[in-house]
Amino acid sequence: MGEEQKSNVILKMQHISKAYGGIKALDDVELEVKRGEILCLLGENGAGKSTLMKILSGVVIPNEGEVFLEGEKINIKNPNIAHEYGISTVHQELIQFPDMTIMENIYAGRYPKKNGLIDFKELRHRTEALMDELGIHFDPGEYVRNLSVAQRQLVEIMKALSFHSKIIIFDEPTSSLTSEETNILFKIIADLKKKGISQIYISHRLEDIFAIGDRISVLRDGKNSGGGMVKDMDSDQVIALMVGRNIENQFPKEQTEIGDVILKVENINNKNVKNASFELRRGEVLGFGGLVGAGRSELMRAVMGLDKASGKIYKNGQEIHNNTPTDAIRNGFALVPEDRKDQGLVLILSILQNIEMSSLKRLSKLGFMNKGQEKECADEYIKVLQIKTSSKGQSAGSLSGGNQQKVVIAKCLATNPEILILDEPTRGIDVGSKTEIYKIINDLAKKGVAIIVISSELPELLNISDRIIVMREGVITGEMKGIEAKEETVMKLATKGA
Ligand SMILES: Nc1ncnc2c1ncn2[C@@H]1O[C@H](COP(=O)(O)OP(=O)(O)OP(=O)(O)O)[C@@H](O)[C@H]1O
Ligand SMILES: [Mg+2]
Repeated sequence: MGEEQKSNVILKMQHISKAYGGIKALDDVELEVKRGEILCLLGENGAGKSTLMKILSGVVIPNEGEVFLEGEKINIKNPNIAHEYGISTVHQELIQFPDMTIMENIYAGRYPKKNGLIDFKELRHRTEALMDELGIHFDPGEYVRNLSVAQRQLVEIMKALSFHSKIIIFDEPTSSLTSEETNILFKIIADLKKKGISQIYISHRLEDIFAIGDRISVLRDGKNSGGGMVKDMDSDQVIALMVGRNIENQFPKEQTEIGDVILKVENINNKNVKNASFELRRGEVLGFGGLVGAGRSELMRAVMGLDKASGKIYKNGQEIHNNTPTDAIRNGFALVPEDRKDQGLVLILSILQNIEMSSLKRLSKLGFMNKGQEKECADEYIKVLQIKTSSKGQSAGSLSGGNQQKVVIAKCLATNPEILILDEPTRGIDVGSKTEIYKIINDLAKKGVAIIVISSELPELLNISDRIIVMREGVITGEMKGIEAKEETVMKLATKGA
């Protein structure tokens, strides 16, 4: 390699290994990043992406391996040292202080001072300068709790800039963004690249990778499995590197026999939902499309008794009252929530305990719960959903992001619902497991389970639904058959332009 090319490499990680108990999260991994490059780090759930990035940001200490920054070996003992070296992360789960302002969040622990006191004028001034750099404008004194996920992400990016970062790591940044917000983020990423800042970008959305990536590096089971320049690769090649096989049919939709109306929802009204009515049949997969924030989750939360709302719900023609989630579960409903971290999991409990928590009541009521069956039930879903664990006793909190989500889904399926509501079920889930989830949806529909899927991914929505309802600003704006639906039609109904 010539000198010129060599100096182009800003970061080199080599022989990195990290084990947790019996699991080798990383096994002799290497990673190279060039100046001003957008390197996409890909791999299935549990492949080791976040762990590798945590090592780079000083959060996790590896068992073995070296890191070189601009040719010099560095020792990233803690997150502060990572910042000093100019390495910053926009995390998968944003860690911020919601009750502090934007400017306080950015400069926490290193406020500008004047006469021993915090110099708020200077603090504001510096924050505004960062906003100018990104071409965004909000009040530096705004509380972070009042910000959207996208805005919080921008705060993290400003924080990274405030450290004069040479390398910024994005761990699944677009999973909760609207397409508009995603475009803003992509523009910022492109601007940072122009400034010569290197970026490592983790995502399960291949369209993101092809939109902004320069180069791809793939991990599989904690090892390097290959990579290449984005312009030289297609999605089949990338998927093959990730899963080690070709996925022939990403959307294995089967036509099932659709039965009688099991659920009728009438005039649901609250602050987020306006007069929403719909019907759902046994064996039917009903997709809900729309932009993030269109009121789809809120409608389902109302149906599940999680939020208060007026309106009526009928099951098999009889009015029921889901005043609380417990009522709803007793009435045969189950919900895989959108925000699985907050709503779906008890992170300190084991996977087995988490899966059983919801099914426990149901099974014991029917009088056939025993330890053997508990295990069987958990085993089955861990296998089907390919949940990567060292043991079923592993705490849910130490699973990779995507695997935590799979536990929530397993937990929900273990209740044997008649009406299953899945809110963005494949967000943060790798391609291979997505297909497994679609298969489960099919199988359940075949057994007569009535299924609602909220999805902001149009190809997914169109390919798995028998029927699609679109919402915008709390209102149902249209309905169509799955096979007749077109992306443009859904987008039109979902956005104001309609
Ligand atoms: N603190 C921990 N204790 C035990 N195991 C852990 C811990 N952190 C990570 N692991 C394990 O290391 C492996 C790699 O996890 P990691 O979070 O790096 O995956 P990932 O590639 O980021 O996956 P995802 O796409 O799901 O976010 C997983 O098997 C995970 O369970
Ligand atoms: Mg991760």
